[in-house]
Amino acid sequence: MSESRCSPFTWSDHPVVETDRLRLRRVERTDADAIERLAGDFDVARMTALIPHPYEPGMADEWMDRLEQDHDAGRCVVFAVTLRSGGEFVGVAGLTFAWEHERAEIGYWFGKPYWGRGYATEAARAVVALGFERTGIERVHAGAFGHNPASQRVLRKAGLREEGTRRRHLVRFGQPADVVDFGLLRSEWNVKSSPTEPPGG
Ligand SMILES: CC(C)(COP(=O)(O)OP(=O)(O)OC[C@H]1O[C@@H](n2cnc3c(N)ncnc32)[C@H](O)[C@@H]1OP(=O)(O)O)[C@@H](O)C(=O)NCCC(=O)NCCS
Repeated sequence: MSESRCSPFTWSDHPVVETDRLRLRRVERTDADAIERLAGDFDVARMTALIPHPYEPGMADEWMDRLEQDHDAGRCVVFAVTLRSGGEFVGVAGLTFAWEHERAEIGYWFGKPYWGRGYATEAARAVVALGFERTGIERVHAGAFGHNPASQRVLRKAGLREEGTRRRHLVRFGQPADVVDFGLLRSEWNVKSSPTEPPGG
């Protein structure tokens, strides 16, 4: 496998990415309380495909155990999104790789108190840039629920194009849901929103 087709990221050599307002860094055990509190909000969980609800004490630690293994197996790069000013944890964003297909799926969630400030868009743009700049992937994609216009808007603002709708594709917490697919090819990607990586980060 060529270098461009495997992950350059590991748990111990995790990238740090800075944008205008955000610092994206490795998820740490000290984030567990914030994760359990913010991901524990049903309004966050219900818009994702995977966050469990209720989010019980200890689940964040279990998630981090899996995350560490997934990083070291080259399956993903996932960030704690924090505020550059003050370091407050506000959400999670990252990429899950399918190296054999030269693509990655972008995923994110943000704590409800931080919605509507442009943080998801800023983080998503940074994560897309990291994927194209630091790996050989040719495509970034995502699926958002049909009833999640905020996430669809974030994906569009990060440059992804709508590609179609999988009708009644998932049942989540008893609710049937359409999934709207989005994708962005390297050849379409606009580098102008590229973030900076601090020295040594
Ligand atoms: C979706 C989510 C990440 C957005 O985070 P955010 O930081 O508020 O996003 P931003 O502020 O960067 O952008 C949100 C955009 O959606 C728009 N929006 C919000 N609610 C909307 C609605 N009901 N209908 C249409 N647009 C809406 C906002 O106006 C904004 O667009 P604008 O900048 O053009 O005005 C956040 O709400 C969240 O974490 N939700 C729960 C988990 C989730 O949905 N994860 C993604 C799964 S695919």
